[in-house]
Amino acid sequence: MKIVTIIGARPQFIKASSVYRAIKSIDRKNRIKEVLVHTGQHYDYLMDQVFFEELELPRPDYHLGVGSGSHGKQTALMLERIEAVLEKERPDIVIVYGDTNSTLAGALGAAKLKIPVAHIEAGLRSYNREMPEEINRVLTDHLSYYLFCPTEHAVRNLEKEGIIDGKGRLVRDVGDVMYDSILYYSQIAERKSKILRDLNLSTSDSSHSDYYLVTIHRAENTDNPKRLKSILKALNKIGKEEVVIFPIHPRTKKMINNYRLAKETSNIKLIEPVSYLNMLMLEKNANLILTDSGGVQKEAFWLRVPCITLREETEWVETVQSGWNILAGIDTDRIIEAVKSAKRVGFSKRKKSFFGDGKASQKIVSILMNLN
Ligand code: UD1
Ligand code: UDP
Repeated sequence: MKIVTIIGARPQFIKASSVYRAIKSIDRKNRIKEVLVHTGQHYDYLMDQVFFEELELPRPDYHLGVGSGSHGKQTALMLERIEAVLEKERPDIVIVYGDTNSTLAGALGAAKLKIPVAHIEAGLRSYNREMPEEINRVLTDHLSYYLFCPTEHAVRNLEKEGIIDGKGRLVRDVGDVMYDSILYYSQIAERKSKILRDLNLSTSDSSHSDYYLVTIHRAENTDNPKRLKSILKALNKIGKEEVVIFPIHPRTKKMINNYRLAKETSNIKLIEPVSYLNMLMLEKNANLILTDSGGVQKEAFWLRVPCITLREETEWVETVQSGWNILAGIDTDRIIEAVKSAKRVGFSKRKKSFFGDGKASQKIVSILMNLN
């Protein structure tokens, strides 16, 4: 069976690495040939190659070199180049991950050629159509044959849109491939990462200093000067009392420069994006995480680090409902209040995992193999 896997953005390299590993461990007789296609959506060394070097993921078979651009142009270029690859390779299945423009282009390219699409991380919804990711998710789910959901909630979201198991589709709650990944790489990160020492966050007796970790990259936050300023003001105030470490996404760096907001970052320790193993160590040892990232919200939950989400809504509702994640939006005072309340009341203990048993990737591969 031939599978074409389409990836292009940082979180997709991490997710695809889990499934690649599962294929290697389950498919002993080499029945599956996986062809890896990189759209080129992310291309800086620290957004791209570092993940291929660090994770178990081979060099892509095709690199489409699409790069950055407006949504229409970027997605259209991907679609054109993906179609050419799919026509040449003629796979049995195309796998796409998450909700980026690479996801949508991959799903559309495959569906138009009548190749079954497997969407990993299906069924997520913010119900906010202002987000480009929401458009990508909805369209990809509707184009897909295999819908691999990370949670029960995601299955229910699909049901509301009439996407039901058995009606010409296969819908399964398999768990989250990012959870598989964190379980696998946590100990490896402990051994290999030197980030805490490099940033002077560990002391000589190897205990860790106190710090907060921040990531921001959502277009609705970065591409609006008022919203970006409001968030940075809060972080800068917090930075007067706490060490705030902020591995900065290139989009956010660009917009801080464009809007001349550098002065709002004087108390924040801005660093380049970090590798996955370094990120896991930074997350694990942080006192608090403030983020608008989807993946980082979940990692905070799995690592039992309290999280404040700098958005009005989240797709990962379980993290909020279980009391481990506070939705603070982008208002300066509200963010500062959320940090105070997180410190004051702490976070509730939770009993349920919600995201599967760490074997999502293996379940996906088994399903794909059994049905072909
Ligand atoms: C994309 C996804 C988002 C995902 C994120 C993961 C879409 C619509 N958005 O957002 O869902 O959460 O990836 O990180 O697909 N840039 C660089 N170097 C790079 C990559 C980007 O400088 O290697 C800069 C460029 O100025 C570019 C901007 O970042 O225009 C945005 O990049 P893009 O890939 O369009 O979206 P992300 O914000 O990365
Ligand atoms: N990540 C990383 N280095 C960083 C920031 C994030 O390795 O500097 C990892 C993070 O641990 C998570 C994934 O990237 O596994 C999340 O990606 P991102 O926040 O870019 O996108 P999203 O999840 O919001 O789509």
